[in-house]
Amino acid sequence: MATLYNQHERTMNNEIKRYKDYSLLAHNTFGMDVRCKCFIEYYSAQQLQLLVPSLSRPFLHIGGGSNLLFSSDYAGTILHSAIKGISRLGEDGEGHVLVKAGAGEIWDDLVAWAVDSGLGGIENLSLIPGEVGASAVQNIGAYGVEAKDVIVCVDVVDLSTGEARQLTNADCHYSYRQSIFKNELKGRYAITHVTYALSATPQLQLDYGNIRAALSGRSDVTVADVRRAIIDIRNAKLPDPSVMGNAGSFFMNPIVDSSTFEAIRGVYPDMPFYVVGDRYKIPAGWMIEKCGWKGKALGRAGVHDKQALVLVNLGGATSEEIMRLCEAVRKDVKKTFGVDIHPEVNII
Ligand code: EPU
Repeated sequence: MATLYNQHERTMNNEIKRYKDYSLLAHNTFGMDVRCKCFIEYYSAQQLQLLVPSLSRPFLHIGGGSNLLFSSDYAGTILHSAIKGISRLGEDGEGHVLVKAGAGEIWDDLVAWAVDSGLGGIENLSLIPGEVGASAVQNIGAYGVEAKDVIVCVDVVDLSTGEARQLTNADCHYSYRQSIFKNELKGRYAITHVTYALSATPQLQLDYGNIRAALSGRSDVTVADVRRAIIDIRNAKLPDPSVMGNAGSFFMNPIVDSSTFEAIRGVYPDMPFYVVGDRYKIPAGWMIEKCGWKGKALGRAGVHDKQALVLVNLGGATSEEIMRLCEAVRKDVKKTFGVDIHPEVNII
């Protein structure tokens, strides 16, 4: 059923592809040259359902590899979805256009398609690396918008039974960079499609950070203008993984209670923060910078000089070097602020 290919063999057909002893270099933006025992790529939900009974453990489903750090070779099977396609399903009766995308679509291609179609809702999520399926696992977010704000439902295949089902947004238990797919149902389902509610009369979200400033002087701002501004802001701050290996924000921003928040603010009145219900989200990048780590390195692993939340591979770094830097940074943040910060990146 699955045809065995050589890693460097390129074919355009849409049959399931299986590779042995496969290099994952092109599948992780940190640029780790690790291998897996077996790599399987499929093109439809039906193909995945057919694959499930013969799937040997351990296995790991990946997306674009933009949020992963492999600590060593993977002694199992890596699964990857090549399910493509973006289609308009119609309207939901509440002013939204429903759009369904295959899990293997590049996330930013979906954003570009939406913006070109005049549909709003995800323009603030422009240029986030990765694929559609992983974006629904991770609940990606940027500049005041999260994927959960527009996700209607997620089609999945159960990786133990092969059964296909659909989860609603509420079923996915979304919160900041979290979902049921990272917690209760970790490893159980593979996402095959995601359906979004976009808007032909978008309500632009311009209140985060310097977006409004970047658009200043414009009165008739469009989704395309917002996309352009976000792309410029990201390009100025975030390193291009094809030039310098990285996985975006390495840490999540910690959410602390009011007494911790007040204690820190007493010492650092200039601390940026966001209110989250009765708690406070503090930018970990700001804390890491305050600890003096911005632009510093340990061996070939560095803290990015324009955004301290991002750890970078300065060239040939091993995952041990990245982890050593991660632990050194965490220790200093804990010592200085009394706050634990946790990796956002999945360490495999
Ligand atoms: N800051 C510093 N020093 C730094 C970095 C940030 O002082 O080195 C301060 C900034 O000046 C600002 C605040 O911290 O006042 C927030 O910074 P920024 O807007 O850059 O956002 P962030 O909280 O550091 C989060 C996301 C990013 C996303 C941005 C913009 C997480 C883990 N990260 O970063 O997402 O692009 O907001 O919305 O929530 C990603 O997930 O990979 C990612 C890049």
